[in-house]
Amino acid sequence: GKVAVLFGGNSGEREVSLKSGQAVLDALLTKGVQAEAFDPSHRALSDLTDYSRAFIVLHGRGGEDGQIQGLLEWMNIPYTGSGVLASALGMDKVRTKQLWKGIDLPTAPYRLLDENTDFNAVVAELGLPLIVKPVHEGSSVGMSKVETLEQLEPAYQAASGHDAVVMAEAWITGREFTVAMLNGKALPVIRLQPPADVAFYDYQAKYIRNDTQYGIPSGLSDAEEKELQSLALRAFNAVGATGWGRVDAMQDEQGRFWLLEVNTVPGMTDHSLVPMAAKAIGYSFADLCVEILRQTLN
Ligand code: DAL
Ligand code: MG
Repeated sequence: GKVAVLFGGNSGEREVSLKSGQAVLDALLTKGVQAEAFDPSHRALSDLTDYSRAFIVLHGRGGEDGQIQGLLEWMNIPYTGSGVLASALGMDKVRTKQLWKGIDLPTAPYRLLDENTDFNAVVAELGLPLIVKPVHEGSSVGMSKVETLEQLEPAYQAASGHDAVVMAEAWITGREFTVAMLNGKALPVIRLQPPADVAFYDYQAKYIRNDTQYGIPSGLSDAEEKELQSLALRAFNAVGATGWGRVDAMQDEQGRFWLLEVNTVPGMTDHSLVPMAAKAIGYSFADLCVEILRQTLN
């Protein structure tokens, strides 16, 4: 039967999903797979009965958070990637952190923010700079780096425009890395070096600009690379994630690793990281897509 490539959707990452999904669809077609685009925000979901399998390339709420996965379970349509629970957990940065803390995986201190929060107390606890994030967003949407107490309130307001739940997280000074996961294994680590004039690896640096540098090999020693891969794999498994995904992390100036988050439907654009890591082990973009699609046969 036909494969539905689910992309688009109505989250804050719709534009990213449109790029990721089109790239996946084109790749599957070059491999002779009978695949069609399906945008759940423009078609009746009951139309999914026309398909025998689904490749999920929806980022963000509605598509990466267990909702579409639950629907596909009900419809008995096998799909790529994580199931309902892991998808929901991965979309929730706070519950992911709580879970990791519970099994002693390193993740930065954080505080939830709301309109009654004493911002002085948050700064006293987490220090400056810190970073404010919507708890259920992706692609750095709604995130701000906060360098002074005065910047915290506007950063909170900016994040709450995207999500009812907002967190502040201690800033880790150091280097940023990401670890792609495929079929139970960690792929080679990628180091991310955003251009010097952006505060962090933000939406612009991720998708618009072309001057972020990607280090693969990562520049870590062999021992550190292995340590980070194993940490990331434990973090991925801890939320119950399966199939494919990506774990983002930092290394502080003392050499310690800190886990940031899990992405259960990571970007698949031409700027994206999982395809870059897969290439390092000899997979073309199309090979990678076929390998992920194979998860629907298990
Ligand atoms: N949330 C974006 C798509 C990523 O993690 O790649
Ligand atoms: Mg993310």
